[in-house]
Formats: sequence, C-alpha cells, structure tokens
Amino acid sequence: MTYKRTLVTSALPYANGPVHIGHLAGVYVPADIYVRYLRLRGQEVLFVCGSDEHGVPVTIRARKEGITTQQVVDRYHELIKRSFADFGISFDIYSRTTSQIHHQFAADYFRRLYDNGKFVEQTTEQFYDPETGEFLTDRNIRGECPHCHSLGAYGDQCEKCGSALSPDELINPYNAINGNKLEKKATSHWYLPLDQYQTWLEQWILEEHKEWRPNVYGQCKSWLDSGLKPRAVTRDLDWGIPVPVEGAEGKVLYVWFDAPIGYISNTKELCDAQPEKYGKWETWWKDKETRLIHFIGKDNIVFHCIVFPSMLKADGSYILPDNVPSNEFLNLEGDKISTSRNWAVWLNEYLDDFPGKQDVLRYVLTANAPETKDNDFTWSDFQARNNNELVAIYGNFVNRALVLTRKYFGGKVPECHALTEYDQQTIANFRDVKERLEGLLDTFHFRDAQKEVMNLARIGNKYLADTEPWSTAKTDMERTSTILGIALQIVANLSIAFEPFLPFSSKRLREMLRVTDLRWEQLGKLDLLPAGHELGEVSLLFEKIEDAAVQGQLDRLARIKAENERLQKEEDMKNWQPVPVKDATSIDDFDKMDIRVATVLDCQPVKKSERLLAFRLDDGMGGRTILSGIAQSYPDPSVLIGKQVLYIANFPPRKMMGQTSEGMILSAVNADGKLVVTTVSKEVRNGAQVG
Ligand code: 2FM
Ligand code: ZN
Repeated sequence: MTYKRTLVTSALPYANGPVHIGHLAGVYVPADIYVRYLRLRGQEVLFVCGSDEHGVPVTIRARKEGITTQQVVDRYHELIKRSFADFGISFDIYSRTTSQIHHQFAADYFRRLYDNGKFVEQTTEQFYDPETGEFLTDRNIRGECPHCHSLGAYGDQCEKCGSALSPDELINPYNAINGNKLEKKATSHWYLPLDQYQTWLEQWILEEHKEWRPNVYGQCKSWLDSGLKPRAVTRDLDWGIPVPVEGAEGKVLYVWFDAPIGYISNTKELCDAQPEKYGKWETWWKDKETRLIHFIGKDNIVFHCIVFPSMLKADGSYILPDNVPSNEFLNLEGDKISTSRNWAVWLNEYLDDFPGKQDVLRYVLTANAPETKDNDFTWSDFQARNNNELVAIYGNFVNRALVLTRKYFGGKVPECHALTEYDQQTIANFRDVKERLEGLLDTFHFRDAQKEVMNLARIGNKYLADTEPWSTAKTDMERTSTILGIALQIVANLSIAFEPFLPFSSKRLREMLRVTDLRWEQLGKLDLLPAGHELGEVSLLFEKIEDAAVQGQLDRLARIKAENERLQKEEDMKNWQPVPVKDATSIDDFDKMDIRVATVLDCQPVKKSERLLAFRLDDGMGGRTILSGIAQSYPDPSVLIGKQVLYIANFPPRKMMGQTSEGMILSAVNADGKLVVTTVSKEVRNGAQVG
C-alpha cells in the first residue's frame, strides 16, 4: 500500500501541570523528529496535538490549588503550548478539548454510535458519598491496601506496594477529598462492548501488524489473550462533555472516550480555518491513502491500539492507525518522574536555567530515548553528552571548518583539487547515508538515526584532525583548499541530517553557511556548496556546560527529595489509624511468652538478604544471635549497638539464610510502616524478664 499523506498525532497531555522531560522524551521529540523528517523529504504531513482538559487529574489539581477546574486548564494549556513552541515541537495545530468544536464533535460522535446501537447500557453499584451526593472515581477513593495494609491506598493502585487495585478491594474505603465514609449505589452507564471487537482486533493487530514495536505488540497481545470486556465510556462527574442522551444528567463522556476524538476535532478545527492550505479534515481521517501514526507513551497503548480503533471501527468510516510507536518511560536520577511529587525537570524551568539550549535537551533525550526499555536521565550524562559530543565533536568540527575557511580563504568556499586516498575514504562514508538514515527513521529508530548523524560529525572532525589544514597551510594551499572544501561539504550535509533532531542548531548553521534551500534529497552529496560561495558570520553552535550548573540542578533535586520525605511523613501521620485491638487473650497465654532484655553487642546486615539484620546480643546468659526483618527500617544498623532491646527468648531456634536465629526482637510499627525497636526506659540487667 502506498500513501499520499501522513497524519501524525502525539498524545494530548493532561492540562494538570507543566510538561517535563519525560513527556518530551517519550512522545513529543520523537514525533517531531519524524514530522520534520517527512517535511524535509517534501511529503504531505499534518502534525496534530492539543491539551487533554477533561478527566479526574485536572479536577484533583483544581482542588489542590483551590481554584476552578477551568482556571487550571486555562493556565496549563497556555504553559504547555508555550513550552512545546519553545522546544520547536512543530505542530500544525495545538488546540484543546474544552473547545466548542471539540465538545460538539465528541458529543456527535457518541450520539452516532448510540443511535446505531453500538453501546450497551449497564447498571452497576458504585461508590457514592451520601453527604456530597457524588459518585467517586477510582482515584478519589482511598482506603487500606488489601495486600500491604498501608493506609491511604488509591482505588486504582497502592503506591506503597505498587499493586493494581479496584475500589472494591480497599478495606474501609473513604472519600479521598473529605474523608467521608462511602456507600454503594446503583448507577447506569454506556459501555463499548470491546468483547465484540476481539476477533477483529486479533486479526488486525496480531496478524496484520506484526511490525509494531515489540513493547506495543506485546502489550496488545497480553490484553487480547486475557479477553476483552465491555468498557464504560461515560462517568458520573460534573467536569467533561455532557452525555448527549435524555435522562443522562450528571453524566459526562469518559475522558478516554473524548480525548482521542480530540485528534479528529483538532484536525477539523485546522482544516475548517484554512481549507485552502490543509484541505478537508475528512481527507486526513477517512481517505485510505492517508497513513495515521500515533506517538504515545506506554501507559496509553491500550487506549490507542484497542479502545480508540474499536471506536473508529464502530463508526466505520474512519481509517485506522498504521503504527503506534510508543516509548517506555524516562526516569530522573533513578526515580520515577512524578508531577505530583515535583520529581521532574519542567521544560519552562529548564529554559530559565539553560536559555537557548533547547537542542541540547532534545539531543540528550533522543540519545537516551526509552525506545525499548525504561531509561534514566541524569544531569551528569546531560553534561557529558553536551561537552563530549555536541561541543567536542559536532560544534568543534563545524567551528574549525568555518573559522579556518575564513582565515585562509576569506570566508569563501575553497575549491577541491586532487583527492588523496584518505579523502576518498572519508567521502565514501557519505555515499549511502541517505538510505541508512531513511531505513532508521522510517522504522522509528530515532536513537540510532541520531547516533548515525553524530557519527558523520565524528568522521568530519577526525578528518580535520588527521589532515591538519592549519599545517598544510604553511606549505601547500592547494591541499588546504581541498581539505576545507571537503570539510565544508560535510558541514552542509550535517545541517540537513541534524535538522529533524536539532532544528535550532541546523537553522543557525544554515545561516552561517548562507544557504536556505538544502533538501533531504541532497543528503550524501558533496557538491552542496559551490566553490566561491561566501559564508556568513561564524559563531559557536554549542557551549560547554560547567560543573556548577549541573551541581545547581542536583541541589534542587536534593531539596525536592527532602521536602517529599517530609510531606510523606506528614501524610503517613495523617492517614494513620490504629489497627483494631486483637481478640481477648489471657494472662496464661501471655505468661507463655518469655520476654527479656538484652544489650545489642553488634548488628549487621545479613549477606544476600535485603530484609534481615543479625543482632549479636548480651542476654546475660552467655549470648545469642537473633535475626530480625528490619533492615529497611535501619539503613545504618550500627545506631542500634549498645542499646538494650526487648526480645522473646523462648521461640525455638530457626535457620534463616544459613544462620540460626534464637528468638524475636520486639518492634513497634510506625505510621510510615517502618519498624522501631523497643527498649527499656532505664538500664536493667541483661536477662531481666519483662512481664
Ligand atoms: O496520558 C495522558 O496524558 C493522556 N492525557 C493522553 C491522552 S492521548 C489522547 F487520547 F488524546
Ligand atoms: Zn499495598
């Protein structure tokens, strides 16, 4: 199948906070590289995005900040739009899902499916707050985790132990916003019966799209293997697009129903505004000669590969995505990026700290792109890639070539004379560069493609270092002319090849070269700059990043980490509820326990165990060793040495990790789940009984 045009979408970010490096690395930089590449090749392409302004995340943010939801989305929509523009993400349209056009379009879409009997209506019991009269979404329900028993787990996930949960599993569920106890109440919703699309999806994805990235294909397969179930496409909420059906007051479209429709309504908004430039929106969405590509993060795979295609199929008049290149996640200095914990590098703040260095971040994020597995962003890697690659290789090569041309040839492109074998070898590297890059970019291997381009810069840089035009200039101007002539052709090639990745630098480089019309088709040719062509002003493409700048970022993260720990403690204290008192027991049962006092002589982590500490005790009876699972609570166990502790002396000895444990140390469980060893309020004789 050949295509006439490509429609590229990138996930609509929630307007509940600024965008960070994780967004950029996962979705927007790869999408932008791809779009710029297609444009450079002269292909017809449209790049569509916008803010996702419905759903619970924005309402939670509004409550947190004490402002209206509309104020939240207005603020972040503008901020996000600005950041994308600042980083050169070249959308044709960046709109929003609170727009009138979108509301109408999404409501009509729902209504069409509704009228054609594409939904099933089901009544279920949902959690309800009798005091506020609201049904609660999973995220707004909290309670005790059934697995790790930490308090304050969310209705969809326990953040302590990571288990995925449903609100029904929570023990003592309550309203996360006001702490109210919840009831169950019947409510009816419309469901998209995904089970009816199962067979079709299996054929379409598993058979016809084996070329999708393994992470995408694998996730789809696992969803399909476990059997699809109907999914509710409406919610009981007061923020969103009202369900356009009589009697559905108080219900809105589920955010994951309306958001992907945003791709279509935003296209419509653009085409309706400028039909002469962009044509009809239907051409982009309904013509079989259009290729649709969705760039997304891995948490969006099911929605873009299973739910949205089923919605499109249910309508029947739309094309389906040809590919869904999804990245894994980017972590920051070893920890998961989190908007709510402020563990992120925000794009707006980055630009305050590193003005004009958009391309540096784009470069580093692509060099480290989480294309096949989660990856880590570290400030030291950022500095190293800037200093050792952008500055030392690409920037240095370009600068040397241009400065030396100015010095020896008055800034005019010198002529190439007889070529040496080494010249020929160098040039040979460029012969099939266009095909090599196309092979990588067409299959969404952006990281390898950028590596390949940097390698060309490396070849150029080495060529100058090896041929030393500054030495030949003393004796042989003809040779110098050839060397710099070749070097400048390589520079011109780099300005094309780097354009999708580093658009700001390529623009500056083209200004320095005083060329405007370099095209992808010319890539690999060594006649891009005619001899005698006058070059422009020379300036540095990249600057070194100093240690102090990196240290400043690390200090900021350390402050955030400390603040998060403090907040977590506060939150744990707030959520703490006493565990119910156990069933009645008797003094006889208690008497069976021989609780005693001993002094800790030594305390060491047990090898190969993350949990155990080995206590060597002076028990007043010749000494004993007890192993206790409290290593997580005492990262530095030496603080326990010299303390008197309480322990149970008459448990039978037990073998653990190759050592014998003779008893059990008594500890209290703190609100944060950490264990605190018990002790006596005044020194007593070791071996003393407690009772
Ligand atoms: O995960 C998210 O950030 C969602 N707002 C993505 C939506 S993508 C699309 F469907 F609009
Ligand atoms: Zn848990």
